[in-house]
Amino acid sequence: MRCLVTGGAGFIGSNVVRLLLERGHAVTVLDNISTGYASNLDPYPDAELVRDDIRDAEAVERAMVGKDAVFHLAASVGNKKSIDEPIYDASHNVLGTINVLEAMRKHGVGTVVYSSSAGIFGEPQYEPVDEKHPVEPDSPYGATKLCGEKLMLSYMKLYGIKAAALRYFNVYGENQRFDAYGNVIPIFASRIARGEPITIFGDGEQTRDFIDVRDVAAANVAAAENPEASGTFNVGTGSRITINRLVEHLREVTGEPVEAIHGPERPGDVRHATAETTRLRETLGVSPDTDVPGNLKRYYEWMVRDPVSIEKVLSPKAARR
Ligand SMILES: NC(=O)c1ccc[n+]([C@@H]2O[C@H](COP(=O)([O-])OP(=O)(O)OC[C@H]3O[C@@H](n4cnc5c(N)ncnc54)[C@H](O)[C@@H]3O)[C@@H](O)[C@H]2O)c1
Repeated sequence: MRCLVTGGAGFIGSNVVRLLLERGHAVTVLDNISTGYASNLDPYPDAELVRDDIRDAEAVERAMVGKDAVFHLAASVGNKKSIDEPIYDASHNVLGTINVLEAMRKHGVGTVVYSSSAGIFGEPQYEPVDEKHPVEPDSPYGATKLCGEKLMLSYMKLYGIKAAALRYFNVYGENQRFDAYGNVIPIFASRIARGEPITIFGDGEQTRDFIDVRDVAAANVAAAENPEASGTFNVGTGSRITINRLVEHLREVTGEPVEAIHGPERPGDVRHATAETTRLRETLGVSPDTDVPGNLKRYYEWMVRDPVSIEKVLSPKAARR
């Protein structure tokens, strides 16, 4: 397949690029390098990087020419950012997404895999959360990601485009840095590497379903390669841990004495979230890795070696701790 990956220089996007190339697909990345890093693509010289913006319809059309499939990851990411800047959030996540779909329609591109979010559900009414769970987002971000999904599915009905919307739970892994918007693992890990205390919002008994980015990349590629894969898919592991337990794991794998301070709960954060994963496993063939401590160890080892993290937040001394 000739693939366009919007947001391909970002955390998840660069992992999708890696897997697409490993599987022999051709890759063009469209990314404005606002929250991503061009250096994430340095290991993949075969991926073409186009530095443009999904809010620019003509730029999106240019990048779309000759493609077979689109992985649409470029977005304004995060609940807090969307609460602070709802217009900015919507311009990316709604208008940017329409630009992608319109360019697909005009250039006859038949497959799109959309990065949605568990944020569309709001506070779960039951667990595990399956694909039929009511969607009642608690933030503009959740609402605009849901809008993106609905746009995808409407283009599927109108124009026969095959669309799969992947609702990620909490993704972690390589290329996720201290500046990832509101993501607990990179924030905690970089503070631990600097020997600083971490702040837990609320009592720490809230739970999350943490999924390794390699499984998220596998779900993306499978959703494009499998002609039967369309509609919505929850992308989590199906198991959950508390933030307090996460901190214990980080203590164990880093060997550092981690000081945890409790702060107020954050608006827009849900209390619990666990994915129901039958469609992920049966239709996309992805069996997510639930070894959180093992994956955290690999992640921490990557982070303290990562040149960007060392330059921006870890002194070389902290990185050697
Ligand atoms: N990380 C998570 O846990 C998580 C959870 C749910 C959903 N998601 C979704 O996954 C996708 C990728 O998120 P991520 O965590 O990799 O974040 P990220 O910030 O690392 O990646 C987003 C990428 O999009 C690029 N981008 C942003 N606005 C752009 C624009 N207007 N034009 C072109 N490029 C633009 C950024 O430069 C960046 O490279 C997003 O759609 C996000 O909503 C992520």
